[in-house]
Amino acid sequence: MKVHIVKNQVEGAAIAFDILKQKLAAGAQVLGLATGSSPIEFYKQIRESDLDFSEVTSVNLDEYVGLGEDSDQSYVYFMKEHLFNAKPFKENYLPNGLAADLDAELERYNAILENHPVDFQILGIGRNGHIGFNEPGASFDGIARVVDLAPSTIEANARFFENPEDVPKQAISMGIANILSAKTIVLMAYGQEKADAIKATVEGPVTEQVPASVLQNHEDVVLIIDESAASKLA
Ligand code: GLP
Repeated sequence: MKVHIVKNQVEGAAIAFDILKQKLAAGAQVLGLATGSSPIEFYKQIRESDLDFSEVTSVNLDEYVGLGEDSDQSYVYFMKEHLFNAKPFKENYLPNGLAADLDAELERYNAILENHPVDFQILGIGRNGHIGFNEPGASFDGIARVVDLAPSTIEANARFFENPEDVPKQAISMGIANILSAKTIVLMAYGQEKADAIKATVEGPVTEQVPASVLQNHEDVVLIIDESAASKLA
């Protein structure tokens, strides 16, 4: 794992942007994308760049069950707002949180993932070490499925919703096996509330109790973190 400690998101995003640019120049065709606050500046730098995605496909990590593009808290809304409206891709794939038949939706999304192996995957990390919505205990062999969100994740997400009852309790998420099959993985994390998760990811044992710790087993992972997120590293 390569670790970059940066001053702020702008500096971190610039590093991620450079890696993306190199991978695109080297022929990357499929990007694995993430939502959350951590990649916002990265997407801004892409929007402001002259990078062209018209021959590039994207697949997203996850989506809340019950939310669709009409909801400003859905991940499809987020992606349009931060990237897709400004940068047209060849195709954008996200799990459909409004699917009436979730089993059929999982079959559809797993087939998409199988047919579009990811060249470059962006990740954030939850305070409990989750990646995508693979919460502690998720199998390292898992593929896309419906997951119950951990109480701490529901609580962390509550700030985005007016009513606590509106905070989704389930999501469709890529599994850890899907994430690990990406050729290059760039994980960004900022702030003190990520310090424990980052320490466990980088220095802890590889355990399903800390989903991101599995990244130690991947050969091309770049961690971009600020000094607060790095503050508990040895
Ligand atoms: C959510 C998303 C994750 C993301 C995490 C951290 O749980 N499903 O993909 O990494 O939030 O979000 P943030 O970057 O806002 O801290």
